[in-house]
Amino acid sequence: MIEHLPVLIEKVIYYLELLSSVDTVVDSTLGLGGYSEKILNHFETSRVMGIDQDLHAIDKAKERLSAFKERFIPVHGNFRDLPTLTQTVKDRISAVVFDLGVSNLQLTVAERGFSFQNEGPLDMRMDNSSSNEGLTAWDVINTYDSRELTKIFREYGEDRNASRIASGIVKYRQTKGRIDTTTELVAVIRSILPAPLQRKMGGHPARKVFQALRIYINQEISAIDQGLDGSLNCCGPGGMIIAISYHSLEDRIVKHKFKEWKSDGWGSILTKKPVLPDDDEISSNYKARSAKLRVFQKKDISQQENSWIFYD
Ligand SMILES: C[S@@+](CC[C@H](N)C(=O)[O-])C[C@H]1O[C@@H](n2cnc3c(N)ncnc32)[C@H](O)[C@@H]1O
Repeated sequence: MIEHLPVLIEKVIYYLELLSSVDTVVDSTLGLGGYSEKILNHFETSRVMGIDQDLHAIDKAKERLSAFKERFIPVHGNFRDLPTLTQTVKDRISAVVFDLGVSNLQLTVAERGFSFQNEGPLDMRMDNSSSNEGLTAWDVINTYDSRELTKIFREYGEDRNASRIASGIVKYRQTKGRIDTTTELVAVIRSILPAPLQRKMGGHPARKVFQALRIYINQEISAIDQGLDGSLNCCGPGGMIIAISYHSLEDRIVKHKFKEWKSDGWGSILTKKPVLPDDDEISSNYKARSAKLRVFQKKDISQQENSWIFYD
């Protein structure tokens, strides 16, 4: 069975507890349903709408959460369309949660092509349903020129070796042909980078390229940007937006968005610094090591008006 230990979930519950009431929570990154399950168990009368663009995740979570009956509402879609996807629970949303990135389901099923550790086709589409005929990692790796590849590896992988890897890939295609699988791509990257450099890199030499391809294929940055804006629109007065990110690109958008909202007078940031997992959580869940949680709370206009009338 594929397991996903929900990262920082106790902290998510801690912040949700601060709400005056919890009607509906939108879990915009349902995955295997770890967050949704915990929230449904903890807030016994609340509902959770669980959104994911991955149909396999929706199926697994539906199975896992079937005992909650109508308290759990699964929705297949991209969180960039949050206002449309949440129409049925409009005016009841107390909080929107984002647990960004890939799920263990996506990483461990080799056919999805997300992992540099498992052999699979170069796919990496989070939404691989038949209705999505979008770009795959294969298309990018086998058809983009060196300049385009460099830009992707640099921008989304923050890879210092972006240009060297990009031109090496193009040269490989010209001399040896197509690169079809994750393992072939890893081997090509290894052949491009000198061994001493690989040793100095610290992590896996293909890690940043895989991250960059995944972010590019799924248009993750614009989705987070639009998803966050949508969440601010959807949440009721006093509502909370909770975001957990796993790398600097994600965290940067969340941090800037919250600051922008604050200076526009939408509410306040409850986490002056990002909340990080403690050593125990990191030692029992490797994925948690890079997690950062940030929380924004929308101003409760009704209460503000009341207090104004009271003091006046
Ligand atoms: C880290 S996992 C979430 C794990 C979940 N919190 C749990 O406890 O099982 C992230 C999930 O978000 C989904 N996802 C990522 N970007 C998305 C987007 N733009 N719209 C909808 N789902 C998205 C992925 O498909 C993946 O299943």
